[in-house]
Amino acid sequence: MRKLFFVVILVIMAMNLFAISVGSPNQRIKVVFDLDLKDSVPSYQVFFDEKEVIAKSNLGFLLDGDRDLMSGFILENVDIKKFSSKWSPVLGQYSEVEDTYNQCVINLQQPSTARTMRIVFRLYDEGIAFRYEFDRQDNLGYFRIKDEVTQFAMTDDHTAWWIPGAYDSNEFFYTKSKLSAIDALKVDGSGIGTNKVFDKNAVQSPIMMKSAKGVYLNIFEAALVDYPAMHLLYDKRKKTFNAVLAPTPIEGVRTFMQTPCNTPWRTIFVTDDARDILASNMILNLNEPCKIENTTWIKPMKYVGIWWQMHAPGQGTWNYADMPNIKLADTDWSKLTPNGRHGATTENTMRYIDFAAEHGFDGVLVEGWNVGWEDWAGQWKEEVFDFVTPYPDFDVKKVTEYAKSKGVQMIMHHETSASATNYERRIDDAFDFMEEYGYKSVKTGYVGRIIPRGEYHDGQWMVNHYNRVLEKAADRRIMVNAHEPVRPTGLSRTYPNLLACEAARGNEFNAWSVGNPPSHEIDLAFTRLLGGAMDYTPGIFEIKMDYYQPGNPCQIHTTLAKQLALYVTMYSPIQMAADLPENYERYMDAFQFIKDVDVDWLDTKVLEAEPGEYITIARKGKKYGQWFVGAITAEKGRKAEIDFSFLQPDVKYVATVYADAKDADWEKNPKAYTITNYIVTNKTKAKIQLAAGGGCAISLKVATTEDLEMNYKKL
Ligand code: NOJ
Ligand code: CA
Repeated sequence: MRKLFFVVILVIMAMNLFAISVGSPNQRIKVVFDLDLKDSVPSYQVFFDEKEVIAKSNLGFLLDGDRDLMSGFILENVDIKKFSSKWSPVLGQYSEVEDTYNQCVINLQQPSTARTMRIVFRLYDEGIAFRYEFDRQDNLGYFRIKDEVTQFAMTDDHTAWWIPGAYDSNEFFYTKSKLSAIDALKVDGSGIGTNKVFDKNAVQSPIMMKSAKGVYLNIFEAALVDYPAMHLLYDKRKKTFNAVLAPTPIEGVRTFMQTPCNTPWRTIFVTDDARDILASNMILNLNEPCKIENTTWIKPMKYVGIWWQMHAPGQGTWNYADMPNIKLADTDWSKLTPNGRHGATTENTMRYIDFAAEHGFDGVLVEGWNVGWEDWAGQWKEEVFDFVTPYPDFDVKKVTEYAKSKGVQMIMHHETSASATNYERRIDDAFDFMEEYGYKSVKTGYVGRIIPRGEYHDGQWMVNHYNRVLEKAADRRIMVNAHEPVRPTGLSRTYPNLLACEAARGNEFNAWSVGNPPSHEIDLAFTRLLGGAMDYTPGIFEIKMDYYQPGNPCQIHTTLAKQLALYVTMYSPIQMAADLPENYERYMDAFQFIKDVDVDWLDTKVLEAEPGEYITIARKGKKYGQWFVGAITAEKGRKAEIDFSFLQPDVKYVATVYADAKDADWEKNPKAYTITNYIVTNKTKAKIQLAAGGGCAISLKVATTEDLEMNYKKL
């Protein structure tokens, strides 16, 4: 529906001064756009319930070798319309997504250069978005952006949850602090070498904030295509975030542009109910509709794999031999002396296939199956993997045939070691190999410093690389789960074969570093997950690493019940049961939840949410229309309040509640859990105790006559 909506012109005084105000559909959020009197600099402000939440903030660009695009503008015209439509994601949290917003298009002209620039605002009920658009024009064909000068001016010293600004990594835990206390250089990025922080005041987007008055704000971006990722530099004196684009290797150039073109959307969530942020589809809505015509081959999946074995201490290696220096082309792999700890053997893989088949998992991931792992990390090496040569102890034919006979899919692993040039040269052969052996999905990885050398994970070249891989994979009907890419910005709407990304600090950090604090998975929900699904790899039951290696201090900062809850709270259509099969075998009753839980959803209800503290989410699975609930808390134990009114009226359900035992505690007693069946209806309102660092997972099914005879208690 495209109708002329409303426009309130506050002031129109001269050709170079005007202010225009546009409201969200529910009128609670307003954006005021302005061209200032002195230099005709475009700026915007945001109001929530008539109170300023983003103070006057500048818009525009500094260019390399050309006059800037941030001043000297006049208004050509304004176009305001309202839009409303619905679409259905291939995989997602809802079967149908509503896209309702008011749009304000501001066409600007810079008379001194005869160039034009358009700023488009979209106002949703839970936030706003804007982007810059450039038409093809005589005086602006090719240009190089030196700096995007977009600002986000804060009105107060809010509480914030942030990770340091670093162009090569987002594998940090979140720090909660006042904006005035941000110190990105103090954060321990433990465990990886690509986390160089570029400034004391640099943070990444999305950044989550809360004002003293209880307004939740979050700055992010959507639809990152052919442009670098946006980081933020906080100016403490001016209380203002300045956009910082990840650089190119060329001094003074952040992006190469060619008209017609546009930037990604800059987004700001604004609400007084934190649940609105988790329930929002704004980021997906700002992305282009699906570009893949036939999507029937895109399927959700649960998987197990030869993976935790390489992260848990002393359990196995990716590499076959121990060699510090190896040349891919000249090595006869059959002549190397095996180290005896290689995880990806034919025999071990067949054990995982059996386990997957027995417990109804769709896939088996095997890392370390291919040659090159001897010196894969930290060398900045170009010819690191070929993606088609298995190690001598991995019989790819035997393994894939065995998997097929058991109705299980093998999941390919392409660690690139961040040598993107090498991957691009070999990707056709790699995808041919996958086709030959029937692999339908791939986990990619970008550990280390990028090749082409001088590029960054978050730079324009790499953004284009990830998207090229995705498009190529779509052509070949391959699903992708990308580790260490730029953080996602809703592109899975356009390319639903992007099942998930990691692009944050995953569960693996708990195995070999100071780990992720108990608030981490809540922080991720309010930040990283806004851009799309995360392959967090939950489900670790053997929580303390001294189980493997006496005295090892590492542990998952969780209770066992919380690991179950993550399957619901941490949205992903591809979920791993990440622990070793032998560990699951000791806790089969709890493992049942992982076997039962869906990963693709008809509906989602965010029941409780507070940044840094807790979240409780209910979801209705696509497989059998069955509801599941996950509740997690941070360091503090609490009672999750679960209102079951999402259930159908007049129906009795059995709720199987996987809860923390009374004496459970993430640090002292993480594995203590209880499993209890209750009868619930849509009138039930339950309070369930979560331990410190704990959680609770619930599966619901319609009660049968036999269930009703069991005398289960009411919850
Ligand atoms: C980092 C990934 O996040 C992890 O899952 C993987 O096992 C290693 N890289 C090796 O590729
Ligand atoms: Ca990683």
